[in-house]
Amino acid sequence: MTLEQHKSTRPVSPDELQRVNKIRRDFVANVSHELKTPATSLKLLAESLEETLDEDPVQARLFAAQLKKETERLAQLITDLLDLARLESQERIDYPSIVDVRGVLMTVLSRMRRVARKKEITLQWKRFGKAAQYTVRGDETQLTSMFTNLIDNAVKYTPPGGRVEVIGGSEDSEIVIRIADTGIGIPEGKLSRIFERFYRVDRARSKATGGTGLGLSIVRHVAENHGGRVTVESTPGEGSTFTVHLPRA
Ligand SMILES: Nc1ncnc2c1ncn2[C@@H]1O[C@H](COP(=O)(O)OP(=O)(O)O)[C@@H](O)[C@H]1O
Ligand SMILES: [Mg+2]
Repeated sequence: MTLEQHKSTRPVSPDELQRVNKIRRDFVANVSHELKTPATSLKLLAESLEETLDEDPVQARLFAAQLKKETERLAQLITDLLDLARLESQERIDYPSIVDVRGVLMTVLSRMRRVARKKEITLQWKRFGKAAQYTVRGDETQLTSMFTNLIDNAVKYTPPGGRVEVIGGSEDSEIVIRIADTGIGIPEGKLSRIFERFYRVDRARSKATGGTGLGLSIVRHVAENHGGRVTVESTPGEGSTFTVHLPRA
């Protein structure tokens, strides 16, 4: 049940070019659709707010709150799209700076702790194997975004009372970081699709939790930009483990 995410190869043949062009067209269509939905609800909510403002201020307040939530979602979608566009425009580059992945993880973990506690989920850092050195050549912002997305998903798709573990170690010349949860899991047939842009196993659930469906595309790009990869193993009803491999500096 392991899925290897292979590095994207450059298009060469006319067939390949045609395929890439189709992906691009589909992407534009998808983006338009994804933007149109929140835009429509913003308009409806604004109208409802306008209508209730005088007669029913209590209801109006609820519409205002929804309007705010919907706007935040739209802003998140735009942020994710911009991140993704930036990540895709850089082919694998030689990053000048050395980043301490453990430090990045500690920052992300301390930020996520409050959300986890609210859901009564234990969020823990662990180590496997002997003491490892966690330095990579890379971009701290990208790495932060990658781990934030993975831990955010783990917390989001784990019911209250569950556990999320971030386990770090090293194998050969690579740093290995596992994000393991005791959550809802992913059906085997869907595993190959979750890294696609906008793909969600359960659309309604993802939307209810403010998801954009772009998180794992960002994760995959960050891993590949750093010369690494991300894999997933999951059992529905038991949990999922995402594993990031990064070459050590
Ligand atoms: N830890 C996880 N447990 C269960 N399902 C997950 C997990 N992480 C991701 N998924 C599934 O993969 C989909 C894509 O993830 P992502 O790209 O981050 O989008 P989203 O914005 O929906 O979180 C999610 O909608 C969810 O169905
Ligand atoms: Mg996500």
